[in-house]
Amino acid sequence: VDLGQNVGYGKIILLGEHSVVYGRHAIAAPLSLVIRADVTGPAHTSELTITGWDSDPAAHNPAGAQLAERVAKLIAQRLGVGDLPVHVDVVPELPRASGLGASAALAVAVIRAIVHHFGLSVSDEAISQLAFECEGLVHGTPSGIDNTVATFGRMILFRRSDAGNEIRDISTPVSIPVVVGLTGVRSLTADTVGRVHAGWQKNPQHYEAIFDEIDGLVMTGLDALTRGDLSALGEVMNLNHGLLNALQVSSPELEAVIDLARRSGALGAKLTGGGGGGAMIAIAEPDRIHSVANTLDVAGYQTYLTEIRTNGNGKL
Ligand code: PMV
Repeated sequence: VDLGQNVGYGKIILLGEHSVVYGRHAIAAPLSLVIRADVTGPAHTSELTITGWDSDPAAHNPAGAQLAERVAKLIAQRLGVGDLPVHVDVVPELPRASGLGASAALAVAVIRAIVHHFGLSVSDEAISQLAFECEGLVHGTPSGIDNTVATFGRMILFRRSDAGNEIRDISTPVSIPVVVGLTGVRSLTADTVGRVHAGWQKNPQHYEAIFDEIDGLVMTGLDALTRGDLSALGEVMNLNHGLLNALQVSSPELEAVIDLARRSGALGAKLTGGGGGGAMIAIAEPDRIHSVANTLDVAGYQTYLTEIRTNGNGKL
């Protein structure tokens, strides 16, 4: 088995998280950090089992283990291997519960491992759809952006719609350097999505206006991306973060690291993904990005240097 095939991509949301759940546009790009999976033998029980998801002892939590179990059950059932004792081992390069799409990447990697092992014929669209169902187990109302990027590994403009999601490939004329910084605070997307939902129920008009405003920023950001205008892109990222703060999905830890990134020369910095902790992203000119990353490293944050590639493709 070619382990390289059974991959689910992590992702960053460049612009538009949360409002994307309410039918607005968002832009997401794949990370070269992935989750790999492989069928390693028969399971001891008569069902699909997964190990490796909880391999990081510091990350161990019952909810995480339970997630892998529930995802395994659903995947086995949908792919018609529910009664077969199959064991899948996963290698997560992505930190969990950090807003980097680890749960969708887990689902995609496990689906691909099963598909290859049994020689099933399943399209990427169907893989993405099944991963979407798995995401539904994690948080009730996923937009569909995570499973799409986890499956296809390309930068996209995304908009959720009952009539069929809008998914458009995006490319840029220049590679854009990105620092991903982890706050070190784990946060469950289900919680922040729930918080936004509660606020929206209380103040629908104000929330809808914020979602519309973010949608406008996403379209301005799309224009900046396709022109390769890093400083214009940075500005809309900063504005987007301010509105995410208004939606109360930021946190003191996120504000601190975002502030530090901006002060050390980032053109733009914002939370990425669910928020409430988790990860932030910053962009900077190629000759500044190392000093931004270094400043965050010295302050004790775990960082990843990555880039948005000209063809929007995260495959190394
Ligand atoms: O925290 P993540 O990586 O699962 O990203 C969540 C993105 C949201 O827009 C907050 C939710 C969604 O389903 O799109």
